Amino acid sequence: MKAIRADNLTKIFGRVLAVDHISFEVEEGEVFGFLGANGAGKTSTIMMLATALNPTAGTATVFGYDITKERGKVRESIGIVFEELSLDINLTAKENLDFHARLYHLPKRVRDEWISQALDLVGLSDRQNTLVKYYSGGMQRRLEIARAMLNAPRVLFLDEPTLGLDVQTRRLL
Ligand SMILES: Nc1ncnc2c1ncn2[C@@H]1O[C@H](COP(=O)(O)OP(=O)(O)OP(=O)(O)O)[C@@H](O)[C@H]1O
Ligand SMILES: [Mg+2]
Repeated sequence: MKAIRADNLTKIFGRVLAVDHISFEVEEGEVFGFLGANGAGKTSTIMMLATALNPTAGTATVFGYDITKERGKVRESIGIVFEELSLDINLTAKENLDFHARLYHLPKRVRDEWISQALDLVGLSDRQNTLVKYYSGGMQRRLEIARAMLNAPRVLFLDEPTLGLDVQTRRLL
């Protein structure tokens, strides 16, 4: 089964043709880089695949689930790092992950362990109880990456994930 299959996916905003009939496939286990100039339609494509935006035309599936007819199933299968920061800055890093874990109905018995693994992965364990508003931009980005991986997604979408990261963290990522 393909991880992603897009077929003539199209998005029109008013008079702007943001995504112009694109078709592509991504294999399971593949790292797929999606490149384009500013305004090329990368974010719009990711948002359609992640069910946050309705396509104007065309179809796509994520692990066989249709992005318009089986949105819940798609959402269960994915993780996403948005282009814009989307953390709750008035919560600590750990609280942000805990909130996300609950939204994904992660069982209580694994929740703390998975949260600590995710924090460990991005090197934030020792700052987990700091409010996110006191994090640097790069630390916030790292936390978002940890959050996107918390539910062990089968497909992970990363929209400009290295934005604001130092060279070491880029390499790690
Ligand atoms: N919500 C929206 N309403 C109207 N137009 C939009 C909206 N979102 C995106 N667009 C337009 O769609 C086009 C594609 O934008 P998109 O954000 O998908 O590009 P991108 O490839 O992610 O660009 P960048 O590299 O700058 O992040 C642009 O012309 C943009 O102005
Ligand atoms: Mg973008």
